[in-house]
Formats: sequence, structure tokens, C-alpha cells
Amino acid sequence: MSTVTTDAVRGKNVGTAPAYFSCHDIHAYYGESYIVQGVSFNIHEGEILALLGRNGAGKTSTLRAIARCDDPALKKGEIWLDHKPVHTMTTYEAAQNGVALVPEDRCIIQGLTVEENLQLAQIEEPIGWSIERIFDLFPRLKERRNQEGVTLSGGEQQMLAVGRALARDIKLLLLDEPYEGLAPVIVQEIERTLREIKELGITTVIVEQNAVAALKLADRAVILDTGTVVYDGSAEEVLNDEELRHNYLAI
Ligand SMILES: Nc1ncnc2c1ncn2[C@@H]1O[C@H](COP(=O)(O)OP(=O)(O)O)[C@@H](O)[C@H]1O
Ligand SMILES: [Mg+2]
Repeated sequence: MSTVTTDAVRGKNVGTAPAYFSCHDIHAYYGESYIVQGVSFNIHEGEILALLGRNGAGKTSTLRAIARCDDPALKKGEIWLDHKPVHTMTTYEAAQNGVALVPEDRCIIQGLTVEENLQLAQIEEPIGWSIERIFDLFPRLKERRNQEGVTLSGGEQQMLAVGRALARDIKLLLLDEPYEGLAPVIVQEIERTLREIKELGITTVIVEQNAVAALKLADRAVILDTGTVVYDGSAEEVLNDEELRHNYLAI
């Protein structure tokens, strides 16, 4: 198991090259409920990190804390992305600075077509990919560009949610259970796209109950248990470590 080196996550003012993204000892609360209990990890630019753990381990809460959602409230710790202090930002500022959270429910906007959902993401700077480029990545969305977004299948809605993130100029893509409820063939299609996105240098955190799929995609893994990091190392090592999988992932 690799240890988390606190110096390296501090950002600029250390001797080694700083990680592209780091959260350092973050603590977050829903009201009085203390849920994220001192989480630290680093991600290098262009890496995919699988953030795993059993139900209720604090994965969604950690992603929400990173995206600076109001709930859970971040009360302590530092979050750095490309030398910028995300921990000092509002939700809006974090999004402006490249943090993109694709939530579990995908949040497709009712009453808007596929194309309008994408256009809405581009009503202000910083604009990312063009809509045509997003359609090149997801030909299924192109075919359905005039269809109402909420009438898409689950897999297509997930593609739209990822496409909408790419319509902004993002640096860190946070995916919460992107494979949930999807048929294996659709999961494979989305996996392929996530690999393409990685090739383009986008840094990704994937939270998944389908841990095996996430581990095969990811370079590294962090496992959470009751709001703390219990493993930080290579994804491959988790795939090969039965005890770790049994204790923390129930697979
Ligand atoms: N809005 C909330 N208010 C209070 N507690 C919450 C809220 N959302 C989640 N929790 C609690 O926080 C813990 C971690 O939840 P969550 O981050 O959703 O876990 P995971 O995504 O790993 O399944 C759970 O005990 C859950 O009950
Ligand atoms: Mg969750």
C-alpha cells in the first residue's frame, strides 16, 4: 500500500513536482453529521482515478466536497487543481475553474432537446468542445440531437451528461456511478469514450459500484471506508488483492 505523502499534496511550495489535482485532509459535514473525515489523495494530469468503497463509504460526499457543493460543507482541508485553491471557491467558481461533476442522477434538463442541453452548457465562458465535436465522440447523441433529453435511454443520458461536461472547458471530470443501471454493452461504449477523453489529457475521477470495470479503466485507485482513505495505490494491485477487495469492496 502506498502511503499518502502529505508534502506532495500541498501544491506548489514543495521540492517535488506538484500533483495536478490534490485534496489534502478534507473534512466535510452535512449539518452536524461528520462524513468526510480527513481525505487526502493526488492525481496526475491525464490520469483516471477510481474512487471506490462500499455503499455509504463517503464517495459521493467526497466528490460533492471537491465540487464545492453546499452539502456536505467543507470545513477543513485544501483542494488544489492546476495550482488553484478550489477550497476557497464557491460551487460556481469551482465550475468556472474546470471542476465538472456529473452526478448520479445525470440531471438532464426537462423540456430541452439533446442539442439544447449541450447549448445551455455553453451560454458562458469557459467554453470547451464544440457541439459537433461532442457529436463526433457520441454518434448516438447526434442521431438524437432533436429528441428531448429526458426521453433518452439511461446510457444515452449518461453520454449526454458527459457531453455536457465537455461542452465546458474542464480540467477535472468527476463521474458518480456512470455505469449504474446500464447494460454491459453500453458500459463498454462509455468506457471506450472515457479512454478517448483520457487520451486528450483530461483528468478523471470515477466512482463506481462496478468496481471491476472502474479498476480496469483506472490507472490508480483510492478506497474509502467511513469517510477515510484505507487504500491509495495502483488499480491493478486492487484487482489482484483478494483481501482488499473482500474487506472494502465486497467483490
Ligand atoms: N444529505 C445528507 N445528509 C446527511 N447524511 C448524508 C447525506 N447524504 C449522505 N449522507 C450520509 O453520508 C454517508 C456517506 O454517503 P455517500 O457519500 O452518499 O456514500 P457513497 O456515495 O459512498 O455511497 C452515509 O452515511 C450517508 O447516510
Ligand atoms: Mg454515492
